[in-house]
Amino acid sequence: MAEIMNKSSDTHRMEKIVSLCKRRGFIFQSSEIYGGLNGLWDYGSLGVELKRNLKNYWWRLMVHERDDVVGMDGSILMNRAVWKASGHEDTFTDPMIECMQCKRRYKADQISREVPYHATVNVIAKADDGSEHVIPLQVGGSSAEDVRQKARVQFRCVAPNATFVSMSVENAKKDTAATLCLFCGGDLSGARPFNLMFKTYVGATEDESSLTYLRPETAQAIFVQFKNVLEVSRKKLPFGIAQIGKAFRNEINPRNFTFRSREFEQMELEYFCRPEQGMKLLEYWKEERLKFYENIGIPPEKLHAREVPDEERAFYSKGTYDIEYDFPFGRQELEGVAYRTDYDLLQHQKASGKSLEYFDEETKQRFIPHVVEPSAGVDRTVLALICEAYAEDQAPDEKGKMGARVVLRFHPRMAPIKCAVFPLLKNKEPLVAKAKEIVELLRPHMYVFYDESGAIGRRYRRQDEIGTPFGVTVDFETLGEKDSSLLNTVTLRERDSMKQERVAIKDLVETLTPRIR
Ligand code: GAP
Repeated sequence: MAEIMNKSSDTHRMEKIVSLCKRRGFIFQSSEIYGGLNGLWDYGSLGVELKRNLKNYWWRLMVHERDDVVGMDGSILMNRAVWKASGHEDTFTDPMIECMQCKRRYKADQISREVPYHATVNVIAKADDGSEHVIPLQVGGSSAEDVRQKARVQFRCVAPNATFVSMSVENAKKDTAATLCLFCGGDLSGARPFNLMFKTYVGATEDESSLTYLRPETAQAIFVQFKNVLEVSRKKLPFGIAQIGKAFRNEINPRNFTFRSREFEQMELEYFCRPEQGMKLLEYWKEERLKFYENIGIPPEKLHAREVPDEERAFYSKGTYDIEYDFPFGRQELEGVAYRTDYDLLQHQKASGKSLEYFDEETKQRFIPHVVEPSAGVDRTVLALICEAYAEDQAPDEKGKMGARVVLRFHPRMAPIKCAVFPLLKNKEPLVAKAKEIVELLRPHMYVFYDESGAIGRRYRRQDEIGTPFGVTVDFETLGEKDSSLLNTVTLRERDSMKQERVAIKDLVETLTPRIR
């Protein structure tokens, strides 16, 4: 029972997060005014700042603060030969199951994981004229409670204009064979491979000769440019090439908001090394990457490095860790750290006929380097940051009365807006002028937001809800009206503790910059 309660409160939490993301401009459904397109999302004005802060921090740590890594930015479309050599054309597939009745498609493992229960659910619904009807649904789900939740979703699709009255569940039974469709209860086909790459054609003719794919990972551009980057950077092993960019996968079942999308961004490092360094570097990068997540505000107790067992690992990998985070919808992968051996470079060397060997000046040896790859998802990490930051607590309103507050407790380093500046009153010209002066003072150092509308308590709440860590208020003390010793000082409010301190305007940059970097 407790498990069911937790699950439904987690579902509820996720619903609130999705709704906040839309309401405050973090994430919107792509092409929303046309009904959207499944698995595709747009980032709004705050979402794009959050995403940019994450990518910039990754780049700073992985490239700028290291001597052994350089960056690159490869094209999304590449010669089809790349995808043949890498193995993606033949093997980048998921086993797919199709419903013979409604034609919905599922990932095979999703069906076996999610459908141990089947039930007939009779939904009583009210039509526009007030008459009540019974709508029988065949529903599958991971638990009896999940069946009820899925029945509600299914009901909305089947009868979008009817009003839900009640439901009764009959014949709920465990079904380990999992042969019925989650949505309509129809029979399912057997599993068959489905290639996840999006096809496209380059040039005016649409035939086999012009076919290629939108890249499903950024890594391959790094492998095929390995020799060029090595030559110009004059790096010695071990060294890495980093890249951030879009990747595309025609996922059979996009889900959990942005978690599994069809278009997403990756932050990938290919760290080249000698064969004997591979296993040690795998451990090193796992630890570095765990530290990274802690540095952006993900607590260590919610992070897990899962050692991927042999049977789940790619055949060429000698070791892989999945870095996982406890999302409200379960423990899921944020990043893979894989020791890929010399597989990729060797494949491209064989297929292109071009040498991708490294020449060791000291030992005079030539060999194909091995590679350790930490590969993180931007969108998944952004989602983890939002899930982790979301909190509800109590805060005083403008009259000092305690009330519920929604707050995003982002690490200041990640917060979209770093500081909001408020004149206490918008109709007092000296207050407004001073606040605008402060905006100009802070702007070269951080993203600031000026707000003069509404009561000051309400303005604080609006900023709390989008995760702004600091608020500066210009009041009558700032003008020296009450106490001349407070002339040119402001109130600095911290979002989480709501503590306020008096800071001289001239010290603001120096006070805030170390806290947001
Ligand atoms: N180059 C290795 C590679 O692409 P992966 O485990 O398939 O490995 C790496 O992907 C990361 O990319 C994942 O850990 C995840 O964060 C992100 N990712 C993969 N598929 C995704 C999807 N459909 N939606 C969002 N992020 C995805």
